[in-house]
Amino acid sequence: MTYSRIAGTGRYLPERIMTNHDLEQMVDTSDEWIRTRTGVERRHVCADDETVSQMCIEAAKIAMDAAGVTASDIDMVITGTTSPDLIFPNVSTIIQHELGIPACTAFSLEAACTGFIYALSTADKFIKAGEAKCALVMGAECITKLVDWSDRNTCVLFGDGAGAVILKPSEEPGIISCHLGADGQYKDLLYYPVGASKNLAAAGTADARIMMTGNEVFKVAVKTLGRIAAETLEKAGVSKEELDWLVPHQANIRIIQAMAKRLDMPMEKVIVTVQDHGNTSAASVPMALDVGIRDGRLKKGQLILTEAFGGGFTWGSVLLRL
Ligand code: UT7
Repeated sequence: MTYSRIAGTGRYLPERIMTNHDLEQMVDTSDEWIRTRTGVERRHVCADDETVSQMCIEAAKIAMDAAGVTASDIDMVITGTTSPDLIFPNVSTIIQHELGIPACTAFSLEAACTGFIYALSTADKFIKAGEAKCALVMGAECITKLVDWSDRNTCVLFGDGAGAVILKPSEEPGIISCHLGADGQYKDLLYYPVGASKNLAAAGTADARIMMTGNEVFKVAVKTLGRIAAETLEKAGVSKEELDWLVPHQANIRIIQAMAKRLDMPMEKVIVTVQDHGNTSAASVPMALDVGIRDGRLKKGQLILTEAFGGGFTWGSVLLRL
């Protein structure tokens, strides 16, 4: 049986950092409110001319280096993102060409904050089926370009960035178990009201901004993530005591703490980046993985549970061994 395994990771964060104090000058908020309600202290914000493909290319180069692969080794590119450069061509084709990767399967995947988990799970299937030998899998967002900077309900939450992993076949698992889900009944609780075939004329107007009923999203997120964590472990026949690390989506420190409690994990066994990155949507899990690997906390052989939840709603978790 062939499994897939992460061979290297990388991340890219835009140069510009916006602190809570900067936001105090822009909207009626306070550093204290943002820290205590969300855990965010600062976030990176992309430049006006910066794009998802540019950020992914930088993250990918680092991941390729870490995995010891070159562009010619890669035969699949998948990007989870809600803020691609263009509606088409899909952003993975831009990344593939710019990195000099030979023509291959390349597509982007839109599952809001769960985009990377969906992308990782998809690449895992291709590798297990023998249809890919070396996948470049990314989660990336220029989500701040969709933010209304005069709306305190949302502008304090988000940040930009890109995370990349190289996934390769392995005789040992690797990716152990993937658990994806979605339920469109919640579509009105978190959405962006402009698309290609709906409301395109509103792009660039005051109506084009992230719409979120935060406290309702919070409740469903905590409930759903708790349930899928339990289901993922059960499916894999793994007990929560066996987990070495939780690498969660970084939307809100209170959601992360609730998940840790549910899994009986002390916060010392949770990778938390929300204070530095804010909610980077599809980029948050791969960037958190990279942070943990590069600072030496996440080690080869350890058992890690990742999870995410986002607009749709979509949700997913991946249990993996590094
Ligand atoms: O990643 C995708 C999934 N997204 C999430 O998981 C986000 C989930 N939701 C959340 O993280 C939280 O609901 C928020 C951080 C968005 C909001 O926190 P909350 O504790 O649920 O606050 P709330 O929306 O219930 O608002 C409480 C109060 C309100 O004032 P009143 O009506 O009680 O007077 C808001 O107007 O906080 C006010 N408020 C703010 N005050 C200062 C909302 N935003 C701000 C702000 N600064 N930035």
